[in-house]
Amino acid sequence: MVIENNISLKGFNTFNIDVTASHFVTIDSHEVLKQLVRHPLFENGNALVLGGGSNVLFTRNFDGIVARNTIGGIEILSDNGIIATIRAGAGVNWHDLVAYALNNNLGGIENLSLIPGTVGAAPMQNIGAYGVEIKDVFANLEAVNRQTGIFQIFDDQDCQFGYRNSIFKSELKDKYIISSVTLNLTRNHEINTSYGAIEETLKEWSINNPTIQDVSEAVISIRSTKLPDPKKIGNAGSFFKNPVITLDQYYDLKKTWTGMPGYTDSEGHIKVPAAWLIEKSGWKGKRRGEIGVHENQALVLVNFGQGSGKDLFYLAEEIQKSVYKNFRITLDPEVNII
Ligand code: FAD
Ligand code: EPU
Repeated sequence: MVIENNISLKGFNTFNIDVTASHFVTIDSHEVLKQLVRHPLFENGNALVLGGGSNVLFTRNFDGIVARNTIGGIEILSDNGIIATIRAGAGVNWHDLVAYALNNNLGGIENLSLIPGTVGAAPMQNIGAYGVEIKDVFANLEAVNRQTGIFQIFDDQDCQFGYRNSIFKSELKDKYIISSVTLNLTRNHEINTSYGAIEETLKEWSINNPTIQDVSEAVISIRSTKLPDPKKIGNAGSFFKNPVITLDQYYDLKKTWTGMPGYTDSEGHIKVPAAWLIEKSGWKGKRRGEIGVHENQALVLVNFGQGSGKDLFYLAEEIQKSVYKNFRITLDPEVNII
């Protein structure tokens, strides 16, 4: 295990924020993971586990140890011709796993194509897109307890998945390091094109009986037009979660904002697109020097180059205040602010 000192994190977060970590280590195997949780720097100090850095905002230098997870490997554990159980190391790139599933004709994660980051971070916030969440195909995960060093298996129930949420973001925040994730994928998969944009794209392409590959390509095409590529403009996808409000509050707001979109969730509440609230508050496309709000997606804050995490944080606060003033709705960050 090699621990480096004073390392720039600019290349390790998709906002491209230039802060330093006083110590930095790469977890590339179970062995390193076992050693790390017993290392005094990790046991007694400030420690942060990082995957692809696509859902974090660094607001200052990190005074402690940053451990980047790159544990690899994808294997099919079982396959009965209907369901295949597949396990991937936490450091595997999420889209590489999607591509592996597609190449093996396994369905279930094609709607989650092109989401940046690692497999290990995916259950943290129950990644979701275009009508599917990881919880829909989740079997279990393996994680090591940061205090005891003991490896444990968490099933679907244990993880307490919710919209952009899991037990690892609440009760067990910073208590475990995920080492692998196991999914149940299906052959003869029943595809999900419930998200309007997928159907429209497939129709445009004159595809009547779409395969999982077609759905993946449609999702990739939609994402590429809507979301900025972090390789070109620093960003972390949606900065805030879509707020969930009561039906009463929704109808009340509709009296003033007649065009306000809203979608009923499984509990009969209304999920309102945060992007719409931010756009109506006048923020879409606003630029402030090196940072701003993306011109095509108001939910995405961007770093044009040399922006700082603090400036992005203050911009996010201002957006929250103005959305609250206009709608009495509180926006909660999706991004992990550090
Ligand atoms: P990181 O940013 O490295 O970490 C995120 C959090 O997880 C941190 O708190 C970190 O400490 C913790 N963590 C990371 N790995 C581990 C581990 N092995 N064990 C324990 N804790 C860990 N998300 C969606 O849900 N849907 C989308 O459609 C989507 N689109 C995006 C589009 C763009 C352009 C970008 C930049 C981001 C998007 N995201 C989306 C957000 C992001 O891709 C996901 O949250 C992703 O799962 C983050 O993975 P990561 O490896 O980069 O995590
Ligand atoms: N809209 C606006 N202005 C905009 C953009 C969108 O008013 O600038 C409104 C439109 O009414 C549109 C609606 O917002 O119909 C929804 O927009 P979109 O389909 O782009 O989805 P989103 O709610 O902004 C969510 C996720 C994304 C995920 C997409 C697709 C959250 C916080 N975000 O975005 O996830 O990819 O749906 O399923 O739930 C992420 O988490 O980082 C992320 C990118």
